Amino acid sequence: MTDATGRTPSGSRAATGNTDILTSRPMSVQSVINGATKRLVAAGIDTARADAEVLLADFLACERLKILTSGNRILTTEEVDRFTLRVERRATRCPLQYVLGRTEFLRRSFQVTPAVLVPRPETEQLVEEALKSFEGLPPDRRLTVIDLGTGSGVIAVSLALATAQARLFAVDVDPQALTVARDNATALGAEHKITFLAGDLFAPLAGFGLDGAVDLGVANPPYVPSGDLAGLQPEVRDFEPRHALDGGPDGLTVIRRILADAERFLKPRGQILIELGFGQAPLVREFLASHDDFDNILFLKDYQGIERILKASYYPWAARLQS
Ligand SMILES: C[S@@+](CC[C@H](N)C(=O)[O-])C[C@H]1O[C@@H](n2cnc3c(N)ncnc32)[C@H](O)[C@@H]1O
Repeated sequence: MTDATGRTPSGSRAATGNTDILTSRPMSVQSVINGATKRLVAAGIDTARADAEVLLADFLACERLKILTSGNRILTTEEVDRFTLRVERRATRCPLQYVLGRTEFLRRSFQVTPAVLVPRPETEQLVEEALKSFEGLPPDRRLTVIDLGTGSGVIAVSLALATAQARLFAVDVDPQALTVARDNATALGAEHKITFLAGDLFAPLAGFGLDGAVDLGVANPPYVPSGDLAGLQPEVRDFEPRHALDGGPDGLTVIRRILADAERFLKPRGQILIELGFGQAPLVREFLASHDDFDNILFLKDYQGIERILKASYYPWAARLQS
């Protein structure tokens, strides 16, 4: 990096040629942004300019606003070369968050790798809804919470940090995902509140004395219908873990399993919150109607008006007859 005079450490003049191409030579911040944007546009990325700015701000370890006001600053040839590698990775349609190695979730920075789904804004709503279960609780009351399919751990970690009253169990079938979740919990200071378990849905919870003892079950399970996977944007289809996306023929395979098995773990009046895909609410409604074990069934809409979150209370007939 050099100052705005255009002098590189070796004293040569900053290149003044075609500023729209990223090449191995000293370049101004403005030229690098233009070159990266052009490369990302050519790769078919709609958010090319914004991505170029975010990548460069991250590369230079400064705020995005700062690079926008430092257009004349010069990057050395070596810096341009290293930055070009990141742009090329994004140009393969690798998600921006994997290139950065992190993402924001509820105003916290979480590590993400290709072993985990990139957390989506809709899931923030699920966490905010889950936190309502803690409102008005006496300070000494603890709630046992399970997060099924924890991925990067954003749900479990966010809940652990937002309330002192949660005792959390976070499960994922993929041990590599659990490593990311654990690292996030440690980095954010929540590791002592969460038990991380590898395995299939409820199976690894056996032996923890949780039968009929869980107050709240949360899940953002794989829910994309298998037949829709091929039509997803390349970032999702080619880079995110298939087992984090593929929900079987109608997308509901894992969701039905969670609802059918929840009875073993949830307390009567325990709550379940599950993120759903577009258009799945009617099918879930139908499934629940044939089971009769849940009441207070709500389908909460996301900011686009899509019924996104199933919220229901476990209330089996045996408990209803007793009350
Ligand atoms: C859609 S991702 C959600 C990740 C994270 N909770 C989030 O909201 O960003 C689904 C996660 O469920 C995990 N998963 C898929 N099938 C599972 C199963 N049968 N048992 C446990 N975890 C499973 C995947 O490995 C993946 O991490």
